[in-house]
Amino acid sequence: LKKQCPSVWKYREILPIDETQEPISIEEGGTPLYRCDRLADKIGIKGLYVKHEGLNPTGSFKDRGMTVGVSKAIELGMKTVACASTGNTSASLGIYGARAGIPAVVLLPEGKVALGKVAQALMHGAKVLSVRGNFDEALVLVRQLCDDEKFYLLNSVNPYRLEGQKTIGFEIIDQLGFNVPERVVLPVGNAGNITAIYKGFKEFMNIGITDKVPRMTGIQSEGAAPIVDAYRNGRDDITPEKNPDTIATAIRIGNPVNAKKALKAIYESNGMADTVTDDEIVQAQRDLAQLEGIGVEPASASSVAGLKKLVNDGIIGKDETVVCVTTGHLLKDPQEVVDVCPKPVVVDATMESIRNAVFSDK
Ligand code: F0G
Repeated sequence: LKKQCPSVWKYREILPIDETQEPISIEEGGTPLYRCDRLADKIGIKGLYVKHEGLNPTGSFKDRGMTVGVSKAIELGMKTVACASTGNTSASLGIYGARAGIPAVVLLPEGKVALGKVAQALMHGAKVLSVRGNFDEALVLVRQLCDDEKFYLLNSVNPYRLEGQKTIGFEIIDQLGFNVPERVVLPVGNAGNITAIYKGFKEFMNIGITDKVPRMTGIQSEGAAPIVDAYRNGRDDITPEKNPDTIATAIRIGNPVNAKKALKAIYESNGMADTVTDDEIVQAQRDLAQLEGIGVEPASASSVAGLKKLVNDGIIGKDETVVCVTTGHLLKDPQEVVDVCPKPVVVDATMESIRNAVFSDK
């Protein structure tokens, strides 16, 4: 492999892909871990880092899972790949399918997928089906389709997806100079990522690189929170939510397939789960953008919104060192940005008009 710099494939030795298989890669992983002092001050915490997974090549952490999952599909001789998606998984699968030279079929919940994500799936040539139903229904259907047609399923029920995504855990430890943060906070939808990152942390501990794991802290939107409900009731499995809804369409999921494993990660690591409101998500999105220059989509901001709430409530200590994972890029959902931000000021093409606008205090 040419590139040994920071990337998913840096960890090839602990990824279950045959050594003769050339990775299907567009140089994913190796995302920045930013120290965020201004945001930390606002939240009232000592050490805050943001792992910006929106800076993966297609704009979300899904690329880490797809590079491994699609490489495995090719290794296994599969002819077509498929997934259901709230958007990012389909964008990533479209692109890795193109890179691998095999067709991709993606099922999206109609009207509930952010524009940038649909654009990616379409332009990269996936067969895009807009399903009159929600994500959970689309996932049931695509599983059936894959069984019937021998398509290779690339939702996070596929273990190779999680193998790729566990490298987020490896990178956090690497980037902190082999120190383990007290806590990792991240958005939870289908619950694959929290499961995968925890697996990464555990593997580093099991091979003796670290001696503990961070407390895994999962954040869901109030309108789509089956995992938080289970956690609050001390249960190890969920009751599905039939009509999930939130501004964070990426995590608009009522029946997460990895719920059991995610709850195990939370309990085992002495972590927790909590909800945030849509307003709290938008405020955190603004704070990340304006205090730190980190542009994220709404689902990603739920991690920071959750941290803020838990610090306010005195549940997360002010002395903790925390890593928030921001999972997707701002440009994924431009419509939401236009909806929540002030409109551009329209001016005449004269200096007077421009000066008036620049110095108006509105
Ligand atoms: N953040 C973003 C931006 C996502 O796109 C997703 C999931 C999550 C967080 C939650 O991760 O599902 O592993 O718990 N998006 C999936 C998709 C469901 O289809 O793109 P999770």
